[in-house]
Amino acid sequence: MSTVYLNGIFMPMEEAKISPMDRGFLFGDGIYEVVPSYAGNMVGFAPHMNRMQDGLNALEIQYHIDQEAWRNIAQQLIEQNDGDNLGIYFHISRGTDSQRHHAYPDNIEPTIYAFAFAIPAAPEADKSSATPYTVATTEDLRWKRCNIKSTALLGNVMHFHHGHSQGHKETILYNNQRELTEASACNVFVIKNGVVATPPLDYQLLPGITRLILLSILRHEGSIPIEERIVTLDELHNADEVWITSSSKEIAPVIAVDGKAVGDGQVGDVWQAAQSLFSANKFSY
Ligand code: PDD
Repeated sequence: MSTVYLNGIFMPMEEAKISPMDRGFLFGDGIYEVVPSYAGNMVGFAPHMNRMQDGLNALEIQYHIDQEAWRNIAQQLIEQNDGDNLGIYFHISRGTDSQRHHAYPDNIEPTIYAFAFAIPAAPEADKSSATPYTVATTEDLRWKRCNIKSTALLGNVMHFHHGHSQGHKETILYNNQRELTEASACNVFVIKNGVVATPPLDYQLLPGITRLILLSILRHEGSIPIEERIVTLDELHNADEVWITSSSKEIAPVIAVDGKAVGDGQVGDVWQAAQSLFSANKFSY
């Protein structure tokens, strides 16, 4: 049985109840975060909370995250739930209203829900044991506020389904200029001749915390060149390596795109070097 946190109280998941008039249910009016933890140690807690505060501010939800209090909630969920590798999910909706009306209501309290969910073990930086991904591609048909980590994820869900229905584990997205944006639940990296390129941050993609940490580690270490720049669909199809990143996957190597092998169709050397650096340094964030 799992223990969850709802509006200040820890309780069994079966007892957690939210009103059908909650704006998170009626409008997808809320935001969320996923913080990974391994053997009780979280990765990137502060940047995750900073991004969540940015989301609250963008949606004009009047709530200030007390990071120490929230770290304590996360630690309690880790202690009270089974599993070595847990993602801690935090969801905040604008709250429960008495009527269904688009306008932001005054004087309602946000609904705050947190729970722990098993995630895969952190990848070993070893090509022979890596979990390779295959992906599809499709045009990104979402809205122009993809930098907000909104719970209104129908566009992402439909894009994920596009690849999943063809047997793939992700779908990489491109805009109407055939420039990559991200994947349905990951950021994307394209590697050519040893250089790592990833699309720059703007309204078209989520500012991923794994992306942030990876770029920081690579910049600091210096042996793998990185570029934040427009990356085209043609570059994706001609890459030596492709990676997708997220909190629950870290750096996932992609070995086929749209049924065509990436490079030699094997997990690459640059991935192994980057994942090794990530594994060694991630708990500093
Ligand atoms: N997904 N882009 C999108 C659209 C995402 O949903 C995610 C994360 C990312 C990667 O962000 P981060 O590195 O901060 O996890 C990029 C999470 C894991 C999810 O929805 O469960």
